[in-house]
Amino acid sequence: MNVVCIGSGYVGSVTGTAFAVLGHKTTVLDIDEKKVGLMNSGKSPIYEPGLDHLISTYIGKTLFATTDYSCIHDADVVFVGVGTPSKPDGTADLKFIKLAAEGIGRHLNPNQYTVIVNKSTVPVGTADLVSSIIEETSGLKPNVHFAVVSNPEFLREGYALEDVFFPDRIVIGADHERAGLVMKNLYHNLVNRIGYAEKSQDFIFPHQIPVTQPVYFETDVKSAEMIKYASNAFLAVKISYINEMARLCEVLGANVTSVATGMGLDSRIGNKFLQVSSGWSGSCFPKDTAELLATSRKYGCELTVVEAAVESNVQMHNFVVDKIKRRLKSLNGKTVGILGLTFKPNTDDARKTQASVIINDLINVGARVKVHDPQGMEMFQALNSNLDVQYCEDAHQVAANSDALVLLTHWDEYNVLRWNEVFSSMKQPYILDTRNFLNQAELQALGFAYEGVGITTSENTGVSEVVAV
Ligand code: UGA
Repeated sequence: MNVVCIGSGYVGSVTGTAFAVLGHKTTVLDIDEKKVGLMNSGKSPIYEPGLDHLISTYIGKTLFATTDYSCIHDADVVFVGVGTPSKPDGTADLKFIKLAAEGIGRHLNPNQYTVIVNKSTVPVGTADLVSSIIEETSGLKPNVHFAVVSNPEFLREGYALEDVFFPDRIVIGADHERAGLVMKNLYHNLVNRIGYAEKSQDFIFPHQIPVTQPVYFETDVKSAEMIKYASNAFLAVKISYINEMARLCEVLGANVTSVATGMGLDSRIGNKFLQVSSGWSGSCFPKDTAELLATSRKYGCELTVVEAAVESNVQMHNFVVDKIKRRLKSLNGKTVGILGLTFKPNTDDARKTQASVIINDLINVGARVKVHDPQGMEMFQALNSNLDVQYCEDAHQVAANSDALVLLTHWDEYNVLRWNEVFSSMKQPYILDTRNFLNQAELQALGFAYEGVGITTSENTGVSEVVAV
């Protein structure tokens, strides 16, 4: 098929590349000349493991990139994968979606049937809005010349290629039968893994690949739009829940890692998304929970569970700062080293990360803050120019003369530091590992005061006696 993906960000660039790999002639369309230029020179416009390789292999063959909307004219399917940032009131800002819809409307071919696919996370009802904008701009009839469907994206940054080529499920919301059939054809090779064996040398996945085939789930447009929000909010609730359990485990002297493992053995619960952290963050969960809450309030249907998860997440950021304060007594004039600025490893995405909140709180109570991240420093600095922090070349520079070393993002490279050098270079050899990721035994053997979250360590053994009620 002839596919166009509007947007070359975290969703559009990966989706476009995937369809090109699977044999569809795919054009990534973006108004940003720099990103388009990068793709045309065989480079990825974002940091995503494996993506550079695929773009350099397929560009000019089945993959194309352009700033010119006229490519819409020949498209069978047009994906919309543009940004939907939050407005100050929490609702999604649809200005980029509307611009894309107008662009599509201006170039739609009256002599063929085109399916427009909302891939961006958009509020329920957005497909109708896109449809009416296209109808108005083009003068063409919905469900005659074109149809708008919803196909929410569930990929995780850092694992995007695995998630796109080997998804758990593909959700298609289509209210027009013909559009549903076009989508089924488009996804045929992906669902049935056709051509995968021949292309396997192209797939470079840094993680384990699942063996099960994806479920192809068809529903109506609004339900598909809702599935995306309900899924992200559920995952946010799940993480907030385990983080709350971690706080209680710590007081009681239980070990949240064992608790999460024991819970996850129940297939109804599952073992994923039960990893403690300093709170969830990033460009999706905060934005999507905010939009869901704003919508629920608008319609008088309060989502108290989601609301509590958001509140609990703020408490988790505070909990980390309090832990450092407790350990260092006063933070005034102390130096805190932060490892990890991105919201999770294997991405350069530093939008709305827990690091910005935690660092801001540390600075407010007088701490000097040194930071490092393997991929996210440039974006973090650009987005947080108000934060007076020292950007360091590596983790060793962060540790030197620090009173505390706080791991916020569990990048693999932080597990293999020269820990004996770190130990002797720190003013106080104290480590707070908010992901329970580092080798506790090794660090304690070297003499570090090591604290995790929700686990007992020599620094934290819980209450001396748990009182039976
Ligand atoms: C999330 C969803 O997982 C994707 O399915 C969805 O497609 C995407 O949002 C989106 O809406 O575009 P992503 O934001 O890339 O993906 O990151 P996640 O891996 O979900 O992590 C989100 C946050 O939760 C991170 O801060 C991460 O560190 C934290 N997290 C995750 C935990 O604290 N514990 C966990 O067990 C898992």
